[in-house]
Amino acid sequence: MPALVLLGAQWGDEGKGKATDLLGGSVDYVVRYQGGNNAGHTVVVGDQKYALHLLPSGILSPGCTPVIGNGVVVDPAVLLSELSGLNERGVDTSKLLISGNAHLITPYNVTVDKVTERFLGKRKIGTTGRGIGPTYADKINRVGVRVQDLYDESILEQKVEAALEQKNQLLAKVFNRRAIESGRIVEEMLQYAEQIRPYVADTTLILNNAIDEGKVVLFEGGQGTLLDVDHGTYPFVTSSNPTAGGACTGSGVGPTKISRVIGILKAYTTRVGAGPFPTELHDEDGEALRRIGGERGVTTGRDRRCGWFDAPIARYATRVNGLTDFFLTKLDVLTGWERIPVCVAYEIDGKRVEEVPYNQTDFHHAKPVYEMLPGWSEDITKAKTFGDLPKNAQAYVKALEEMSGAPISAIGVGPGRTETIEINSFL
Ligand code: GDP
Ligand code: IMO
Ligand code: MG
Repeated sequence: MPALVLLGAQWGDEGKGKATDLLGGSVDYVVRYQGGNNAGHTVVVGDQKYALHLLPSGILSPGCTPVIGNGVVVDPAVLLSELSGLNERGVDTSKLLISGNAHLITPYNVTVDKVTERFLGKRKIGTTGRGIGPTYADKINRVGVRVQDLYDESILEQKVEAALEQKNQLLAKVFNRRAIESGRIVEEMLQYAEQIRPYVADTTLILNNAIDEGKVVLFEGGQGTLLDVDHGTYPFVTSSNPTAGGACTGSGVGPTKISRVIGILKAYTTRVGAGPFPTELHDEDGEALRRIGGERGVTTGRDRRCGWFDAPIARYATRVNGLTDFFLTKLDVLTGWERIPVCVAYEIDGKRVEEVPYNQTDFHHAKPVYEMLPGWSEDITKAKTFGDLPKNAQAYVKALEEMSGAPISAIGVGPGRTETIEINSFL
């Protein structure tokens, strides 16, 4: 079992942090491969709750080496404040490794993210405002600044100048904002350089060597399948590839090394930001899911949109990620409903459609076709085995498994590490 990927099967916030932390004690490396501090991964250890944004959740497992791969975008100020926040709480962060090829989020990327959203008005994406999209855009436009540039002042100056030449035109002429002075940005970036230096490494070489030595590497996705820039609900997506292929490009580990891909799947559905969401509820059930599930964004504090489970989406996640397993989370949140609707297909312009349509217009028109499953009222938070679950909860899990196309190998019945039912071992 050399390398496994753990990723979001829906629109993010499925419980990736908890799942990663659960495995963190048994793996040698936990690697973030895409995204940045747009992520908010909650880990609950005993009575301690941690909210991680940029750092891999493996940082909380003492034996594990956390890695920020080349596919991640790194805001250096956020990185240092997250590290010091953990240090103050007694967490040893000294093992962290950061790819020298990862791109840096600069203050002008954050500015462009915010003004672009404002400019889009009603058509905005509802980004986290952390500069994620503009930083990836700079990367693809080949005007990005990388972590390694912090250690060559003249290159840093040239790159920041080149990036700002275009951006200042845009800021001044289109967005009516003041131009940003490159010297100020270079100075700010250089302030972080020495503090970050001890972590910077050739992470691709280290990870491949580790896999060759039989070490176990876990890739921790940010966001989720439907937020993927290629496979998600474009344009209402993030600007990276949370899907399984992203683990390879975002780390420099080839697909032949990856043996397992685990989709984290919430027992219902949530989404933050704009974009289509066929099973979204605007009634008291939606309110109840939000309240009981504590569905409020970890990064931006926004209320999450809530809805019933969507099986076509789970099947889609199985397909585009080649999922081998699911980790079903938050089953406990559904306790108390007499009947639980599950979306089994869509009706699009009068026709029944079984799969997520590739066409954006069709997906915007998709209406859920529901099947009603019987609910349960017993407290399930203490369940340790599948057999401990009430019969109707077992049947709900089995029905979801059948519809989703991969075995459910673990079930979350509460936020804590121990509130998990393990069915098949992941390692
Ligand atoms: P992530 O972004 O995928 O890591 O997920 P978030 O941390 O943003 O949101 C998931 C929330 O659900 C967090 O508050 C977790 O502590 C919590 N959580 C995770 N698994 C479970 C579970 O099985 N049951 C309950 N009740 N809460 C869970
Ligand atoms: P985790 O890792 C949920 C959403 C934003 C917005 C869109 C684009 O905690 O699951 P961005 O700032 O990335 O350009 O915003 O993506 N988004 C998330 N939604 N969970 C996340 O991360 C998200 N990261 C980004 O709300 O709709
Ligand atoms: Mg989250």
